[in-house]
Amino acid sequence: MKNLLQQDPDIAQALENEIRRQTEGLEMIPSENHTSPAVLEALGSRFTDKYSEGYPGIRYYGGCENVDMVENLARERAKALFGVTHANVQPYSGSPANHAVYFALVNPGDKVMGMHLYYGGHMTHGLKVNFSGTYYNSIQYQTGKDGFLNYDEMAEMVKKEQPKLIFTGATAYPRIFDWQRLREIADTCGAWLVADISHIAGLVVSGDHPSPVGFADVVTTTTHKTLRGPRGALILCNGNPSNPLKKAERIKENIPTLIDRAIIPGLQGGPHNHQTAAIAVALKEAATPEFKEYGHQIVRNAKTLAAELLNKDFNLVTGGTDNHLLLIDLTNKNLSGKEAEKALSLAGITVNKNTVPFDPRSPFDPSGIRLGTPALTTRGMKEEEMKIIAGWIDEAVMAKDDDMKLADIRRRVKELTDQFPLYSGLSYK
Ligand SMILES: Cc1ncc(COP(=O)(O)O)c(C=O)c1O
Repeated sequence: MKNLLQQDPDIAQALENEIRRQTEGLEMIPSENHTSPAVLEALGSRFTDKYSEGYPGIRYYGGCENVDMVENLARERAKALFGVTHANVQPYSGSPANHAVYFALVNPGDKVMGMHLYYGGHMTHGLKVNFSGTYYNSIQYQTGKDGFLNYDEMAEMVKKEQPKLIFTGATAYPRIFDWQRLREIADTCGAWLVADISHIAGLVVSGDHPSPVGFADVVTTTTHKTLRGPRGALILCNGNPSNPLKKAERIKENIPTLIDRAIIPGLQGGPHNHQTAAIAVALKEAATPEFKEYGHQIVRNAKTLAAELLNKDFNLVTGGTDNHLLLIDLTNKNLSGKEAEKALSLAGITVNKNTVPFDPRSPFDPSGIRLGTPALTTRGMKEEEMKIIAGWIDEAVMAKDDDMKLADIRRRVKELTDQFPLYSGLSYK
């Protein structure tokens, strides 16, 4: 930080504060994680200086020999990790990756289908105020009252509406997806099936969640959640791309070419080479036996947290979890998701407010909170720590506005986090 401190003390101060916040608190937002020092080094590197529109071997700029190597490595690692024959590693993030899939496979105005945001879907799965619900004629499916995805209801909707593309996967869903069932549903109307595994990609790698590969036509994922890489995304599919400079008909065999063409020239310019380099590093880490064990531990931790919270009379949507996240309906605790988010934050525990299925409250102050274990597991926390943390969550929710009590929990949180440092290279001390 030497240069930053000298040149821009304001930004240096904000960064130091952020490192302190992450180090001393419990990061329980399920879409967040802590990247390794190696990933950070690649991300903060000279690769950010380089323009390289196009793909390895077919660039619009000179001097691309090193970034070609980086992008090829990232592609090969992604392909091997997820068992596909084609990977596009250039999407700037998850939303642009999903945007590219629509752009590749359907026309503006076509009927598309995805899970509603309020029931666990992502904005890019057809929310009316998002591009996906504005440029496309989106219809939305939801969970049943029990919080589980209702496949029968979804199948009925598909039969009636005949969408051209179905987005699956979620942002706040604590259960396993039945990819085979989803493929069968899509096949009843000949729709493209897209699996957005942003949240669960790390668990797919570790074998803790079934892979959609072989069922979905296209798989998208962010690289910064359970996969533990830098912000970014991958688009995965099977088949071999032909020249992305040439137009391709919308048929299955052309999916890789259609995807590559959607990224550039369709939607993006130059790839973020520093980000690609950091993604490549993260993919190498994800291919290790340690990462598999990491995935197993994420789930064990989430299940322990769920069991402890159920014991403390917390109401979990679907009654528990199969993956890395929990959705708590706080209605019986007499506080809203927003109030709980604030109280927990004062206690040093970061979560986010979230709607629950059929939420009677507004999404700005919903009935629930969403929390997960990926970041805590990265720090080495296990079942024993989850039990302690469940107790603190209970205390904080009961303390609500009692700042003294919340500060006392925060002190204990700090004592615990002192024993589980972030990667040593990140310490602000
Ligand atoms: C399922 C899913 N898809 C896509 C995204 C979008 O990713 P990004 O925030 O990188 O645009 C998210 C992010 O929360 C997500 O949960």
